[in-house]
Amino acid sequence: MLNTTASFLRCVPLYTRPRTLHSSPAYFPSLAALARRQLGAFQTGLPASYSTFGVSEHAAVSTNKPYYITTPIFYVNAVPHIGHLHSVVLADTLKRFQEMKGRKGLLSTGTDEHGLKASIQQAAAAAEVSEKELCDRVSQRFKALFDAANISYTTFIRTTDMNHAVAVKEMWNDLWNKGYIYKGQHEGWYSVSDEAFYASTQVEEKTDEKTGEKYHVSIETGKAVEWTTEENYKFKLSEFTEPLLNWLDKNPEGKYNEVREWLQQGLSDLSVSRPRSRLTWGIPIPGDDSHVMYVWMDALTNYLTVTGYPWRGIMGAQKATGGWPADAQIVGKDILRFHAVYWPAFLMAAGLELPKKIVAHAHWTQSKMKMSKSIGNVVDPFTAMEEFGTDTIRFYLMNDGGLSDDADYSSELVAGRYRKLLAGQLGNLLSRSTSLALNPSKKVPSPPSEGNIHPDDLALWNKLKELPEKVDQSMTQFRTTQATHHIFDMLAEANANFSHGEPWKLVKDPSNKERVDQLIWNALESTRMAALLLQPIIPTKSSEILDQLGVRGDERSWEHAQRGRGWAADQEARSVATGGPMFPPLKK
Ligand code: MSP
Repeated sequence: MLNTTASFLRCVPLYTRPRTLHSSPAYFPSLAALARRQLGAFQTGLPASYSTFGVSEHAAVSTNKPYYITTPIFYVNAVPHIGHLHSVVLADTLKRFQEMKGRKGLLSTGTDEHGLKASIQQAAAAAEVSEKELCDRVSQRFKALFDAANISYTTFIRTTDMNHAVAVKEMWNDLWNKGYIYKGQHEGWYSVSDEAFYASTQVEEKTDEKTGEKYHVSIETGKAVEWTTEENYKFKLSEFTEPLLNWLDKNPEGKYNEVREWLQQGLSDLSVSRPRSRLTWGIPIPGDDSHVMYVWMDALTNYLTVTGYPWRGIMGAQKATGGWPADAQIVGKDILRFHAVYWPAFLMAAGLELPKKIVAHAHWTQSKMKMSKSIGNVVDPFTAMEEFGTDTIRFYLMNDGGLSDDADYSSELVAGRYRKLLAGQLGNLLSRSTSLALNPSKKVPSPPSEGNIHPDDLALWNKLKELPEKVDQSMTQFRTTQATHHIFDMLAEANANFSHGEPWKLVKDPSNKERVDQLIWNALESTRMAALLLQPIIPTKSSEILDQLGVRGDERSWEHAQRGRGWAADQEARSVATGGPMFPPLKK
């Protein structure tokens, strides 16, 4: 699971436009170059860990730039499920983590409402509502989910928003003016449900077991494809094979290899419009109403729209204070090609900076099958949160849902994590540390001095010291499962330290007061550190725990997540509170 920090931090020089492109008749000076000059020594880095690639955090030195993180925008042809929620909780966790470290955070999410003829037009027709009404309904449902899940999004974009149409048209005009879009014929294997053309190498023949009929499917998505010819606009994607390879260069791990393989097969030009006769629900091509924009070009541009792109006029100021380039773009592994090939190519063509990291996460399955409406195995996130609580589900998703391996959702596992980790470790240590029987004064004992650590406490003492660094490394690599592992490893040690110390026996003899105080401090400090570091994942529960521990609001940032940095100087005046169980037993 662990990736080496060394490979993660590797940097290379900024992407440079290849020579061949300079001869392009409509080549314009790169905006990226201008932006670079403003930002100073900015470097684009290399593929980092096996599910991420982009710039090293250490290279991202633009001081006032907010941390801008994005989620994919969600199709409105089906209601949200737990897998969708995972992308957003991950982004929210990472944003909150950066905020804890003192950086302003921007988190953008929203809904992808155009295209998908097979889905949106048909779903709207089936529900006897207009496309717009259907979009409103489902978009609202996603928004309600993110509110219920305590997602601190700063923008919720809908691709039917007016400002988005402006941004998309700007992007189109820019690429057209620079000669990267032309009108042509397009022939290929087309998948209606994927809204994508595939090359012959990406398609395989299958035989229907019942009828014996032959048909073709996309190897990547398994969706049916048909040979289709149509007139449309094309983007010169083929010119970007080399620049993209350069961008990805050198990282030998996982998802990076996948993307490299796609690139090495060579890229064909990409069809970026659909005839209006086939698809009416989309953004019209500027100057040609007979075509609408390819849904992915439309959708990907959302990441710019929310930063105020095209950054002119009043919006111009947003370039300086706004988000672009994104610090991290969270995507599920199924949409990696769109984000790691098409998206950077569009940006390069437009002369814009590339996102610093693209983070692909694995999927949630149920009964080992990918959740899908058609299989009928989707988990309703609203019901799950009602049953177990918002923070429990957030915790479960971040504790079990990783970047590399698919995770299988089960209510038993949610209950198990709740009982064993949240209640059994964190809740238990909280009630132990605030026990009135052991600490009737409710005062926080003084921390031990470095040279005076009881031998039984050494393991915990060291774990507390190392924990922030470990959590920081895990979070910087987007590995929340690792971060929770480290936190709960420390909590297990803290509980063992308490059990082994048996303060409930020692307290009977007043001469043991010093040792009892030490054990209470160990437990209190461990609970404080855990709650503090878990804030990005379980914000509500963490806040309640920190309240109970008497930790002030201004003592909850990263600088306080260090052993001995709690309760500040006026510790004597603070007291902890007792309370009912923080994680009460589950109903069933
Ligand atoms: N609309 C596109 C994204 C456009 S972004 C410019 C799309 N939408 S989606 O609704 O199908 O998926 C949105 C996100 O949810 C994707 O990151 C996808 O990987 C994620 N998930 C969908 N099902 C999932 C699971 N079963 N498990 C985890 N995440 C999954 O693609």
